[in-house]
Amino acid sequence: MTTPLPTNARDAARAMLAAAHRIVVLTGAGVSAESGVPTFRGPEGLWRNFRPEELATPDAFARDPRLVWEWYGWRRERVGACRPNAAHAALARLALAREGVRVITQNVDELHTDAARAAAGTGDASAALPLELHGSIFRVRCTACPARYAHRRPIDASSDATLPRCDRCSALLRPDIVWFGEQLDHATLNDAFRAAERAAVCLVVGTSAVVHPAASIATATLHAGGQVIEVNPEETPLTRTATLSLRGAAAEVVPELLRTSP
Ligand code: OAD
Repeated sequence: MTTPLPTNARDAARAMLAAAHRIVVLTGAGVSAESGVPTFRGPEGLWRNFRPEELATPDAFARDPRLVWEWYGWRRERVGACRPNAAHAALARLALAREGVRVITQNVDELHTDAARAAAGTGDASAALPLELHGSIFRVRCTACPARYAHRRPIDASSDATLPRCDRCSALLRPDIVWFGEQLDHATLNDAFRAAERAAVCLVVGTSAVVHPAASIATATLHAGGQVIEVNPEETPLTRTATLSLRGAAAEVVPELLRTSP
């Protein structure tokens, strides 16, 4: 008796993921869209109303730290009120249940981390914690010393004197985000590319795939002989080369792809 071939792209994707020995998952802002976190590009995207060069570059921070902190303070409040959605939860369960799964995210919202902790309960969440390529909105680093730590206190950007200061040396703190024109952390990027090259499948969820090097992670899987499954309501530059490209919203499609039984 022969196994029937999958009848549609979602079945095919589910079969690929079920059979894959190693999986990397690359996510972007779209995975958090249904949690209420704004994306960057597109009609409702943050970069429609704000100019990245005024808010998300080292020069912008040097020129006007209050403006930059005000913007990040606003985003922190907005993101802090959001909860992981069904896509984050399904990915966290997958990474905890199966060996060889690595979640890599461009997002700075920590929703994968929240989902990992929720899925692990009192157990160890580490297998589901993401590699955060672009940092976290809930971490800070010092502009003068090597200090880098979690920071969720509200931001008061009403004057230079009220901006957040380093617990160790009192110098100005900045968001621990990789801004335009800055290098990604070398070790994190290395881990991400190594995982991508060893993966049988790279599942790409909710990224416009225009920001590099993150967008090259899926290509690394393809070049090493693996397959790419894209989940996005829109076409992206990756669509043409992806093995399968599924149109739909993350919170609907991802749990369906990762369901263990039909
Ligand atoms: P973008 O805003 O560029 O792209 C979001 C993608 O999500 C688009 O392709 C949308 O079509 C898709 N999308 C929207 N709703 C979705 C949903 N419900 N389910 C699935 N997909 C959905 O965000 P990124 O690709 O993450 O950098 O942007 C990359 C980087 O550019 C960000 O990390 C950020 C930004 O500047 C930093 O913060 C350093």
